[in-house]
Amino acid sequence: MLSSNYNLSSLQTKVAAMPRLGLGLGLRHVHFDHIQQSWPAVDWFEAISENFMFSEGRPRHVIRQLAERYPVVLHGVSLSIGSSTPLDFHYLSALKTLASEINPPWVSDHLCWTGVLGLNTHDLLPLPLTEEAFWNTAERVRIVQDFLERPLILENPSTYLSFTHSTISEPEFLSNLVAETGCGLLLDVNNVYVTCFNSGLDPVDYIEALPHDKVVQMHLAGHQHCGTHIVDTHDRPVLPQVWELFRLAWQRTGGVSTLLEWDGNIPSFEECLAELYKARNFMGSAIPNFVPDFERHLVEKSPAQSTPIDFMVSPVMAHAELL
Ligand SMILES: [Fe+2]
Repeated sequence: MLSSNYNLSSLQTKVAAMPRLGLGLGLRHVHFDHIQQSWPAVDWFEAISENFMFSEGRPRHVIRQLAERYPVVLHGVSLSIGSSTPLDFHYLSALKTLASEINPPWVSDHLCWTGVLGLNTHDLLPLPLTEEAFWNTAERVRIVQDFLERPLILENPSTYLSFTHSTISEPEFLSNLVAETGCGLLLDVNNVYVTCFNSGLDPVDYIEALPHDKVVQMHLAGHQHCGTHIVDTHDRPVLPQVWELFRLAWQRTGGVSTLLEWDGNIPSFEECLAELYKARNFMGSAIPNFVPDFERHLVEKSPAQSTPIDFMVSPVMAHAELL
């Protein structure tokens, strides 16, 4: 149940005051050594919350060290905000404890559900976009924000199907959530492209329909085109059409904090940084008459895995060595 002091305007004020952090990278365990040895010049990091919440070993040690030197945002993949099963307060308590330790500028997760009855699919599953799902999700967002004592920032997921009984578009669903709960938005530009291709929608219309002043952060990532559909693989450079969407999103949001995600076939830290800094070519320049050209991409035949979340605790702990 909500506490009696749930304060919508306070949450809205906090979202509006969230800082613009610049260009950041997703924190991945394969880069731990490099980061700890060189403390590279990058504006900020985003850490997958679940990789650190239940660890008292090296991952927790690393994130504490990083948080002393950089802004570190917490980004979750298992909150399951759209589910109809009860919220997991063991999970939320661990997240709140971690947040109290590293003081992230914000905490984010996805508009999705990830499992039922304590089972976690480790995937970001789509919601039927109905009034019923909206009010269920809104109530859960309010409870989570009340418990965490901070706004929740919600990301648009990549989706591969849509429900025939959906009655609300995804941008409208997100906009209404923002208005109803005071949460903020994480606009994943690549996810917009993937979802719109897979659903036959216009990604420009999608971005234009969002409440741009409530977008706190953006994501960039690579995807794999499979001909009939696109899979959100996070295993390659950002595609040209996504960069063009980023140009639009950057202008509409006024240039919010932007982060590159890379989760499969992860190259060196310096290569990730070079890919991230390509963003500078699309920040502040004029927007051409952008028409999404879905057909131009090379169609690949190799298997594609969606959003390979790198649960790092096991491999890292196998080589645990506190620095
Ligand atoms: Fe993302």
